[in-house]
Amino acid sequence: MSTISIKNLSFAYNGQDLLFDNVSLSLDSQWKLGLLGRNGRGKTTLLNIIQGKLDYSGKISANIDFEYFPQAISDKDNLTLYAIQDKFHVEQRELEKEFSQLQLDPKVLWQPFNTLSGGEQTKVLLALAFKNKNSFVLLDEPTNHLDAHTRQQVATYLNNKKQGFIITSHDRDFLNQVIDHTLVIEAQNIRLRQGDYARYEEQKAIEDKSNLAQNEKLKRSISQLKTSAAQKKNWARSAGREKENNSHADKGFITAKAARVMKRSTTMQKRIESQIKDKEGLLTNIETITLLSINFQTSHHQDILNVEKLTLAYPGYDSLFKPISFNLKQGQQVVLKSDNGSGKSSLIRARSRKVLVTKIE
Ligand SMILES: Nc1ncnc2c1ncn2[C@@H]1O[C@H](COP(=O)(O)OP(=O)(O)O)[C@@H](O)[C@H]1O
Ligand SMILES: [Mg+2]
Repeated sequence: MSTISIKNLSFAYNGQDLLFDNVSLSLDSQWKLGLLGRNGRGKTTLLNIIQGKLDYSGKISANIDFEYFPQAISDKDNLTLYAIQDKFHVEQRELEKEFSQLQLDPKVLWQPFNTLSGGEQTKVLLALAFKNKNSFVLLDEPTNHLDAHTRQQVATYLNNKKQGFIITSHDRDFLNQVIDHTLVIEAQNIRLRQGDYARYEEQKAIEDKSNLAQNEKLKRSISQLKTSAAQKKNWARSAGREKENNSHADKGFITAKAARVMKRSTTMQKRIESQIKDKEGLLTNIETITLLSINFQTSHHQDILNVEKLTLAYPGYDSLFKPISFNLKQGQQVVLKSDNGSGKSSLIRARSRKVLVTKIE
């Protein structure tokens, strides 16, 4: 067991706002830690910082090697084993050992890397990331290309692992199966908790409820304060005007009075503005989601695509699937669903004619 200690971490990309502002955390290398947060909050950035790929201020110390997923494979046309060995020091049997736990056929090692399905590529790279039992693995969105079946295989694989890791994923159900701690980059905090994501959400919902009530109160009082600040500003302004416009006898008296009103009003306005600022600072940490609406009118009459008894085959290989027929009309939204490797992407690419298209009459 070893500790990854992050002290006073601050980081911003050039010319941008701080993504991390004085963050301190202590992580145990045996944890299975889910790293969560909306897109753009800095999950990938944090994984890069931990690996020492970015300059930051603060101190990160860890007495353990890191492995990162997804690793960059440069020569993707090469046979998978050679494409990997080109960049990483790993033996065939080390990969094959992990493959058996991932339920991956070792024959993929002898296929060009770029011909593997998304799920197969993911499994190969996971095997590579986990080959060294003493390292701590940083997994950035390994579920992206997985169908439901492969997702389950990967969840079981990660569940059975003894070693720890940090994982980011948008699939909550998947995460709940594999993690025992959560680190969430929230709107205003970074929060570390024991337990899975479901547990985090339960606690967050309770906090949100009380924060929401508190926020409503604060917003009402901020709006009252704003009205009051505007009023004081007006008073100061009209006292100023009175001072300027008055050309009558008792000018000295009126000017002195106007100056007093102006000063008092300005002081009150400043005080109220500072109260507004304090209260706005208390408005907390609730994620709001703006719903996306699409204003799109369509006719369901026009045919977009007619497919009749179509099957696809790569030269020298069997057909990918049994002949299919379907008809798509404008405005229809269709899910193309099947296991990895059964030909979804090939079907979408079919018109580019890189595959043999067979139309059976
Ligand atoms: N190399 C970069 N240069 C400048 N800004 C970047 C760079 N990489 C990411 N960002 C910005 O930093 C923020 C965090 O990005 P990222 O760490 O990828 O978030 P996440 O992984 O949580 O989606 C985003 O606003 C993103 O646009
Ligand atoms: Mg990311």
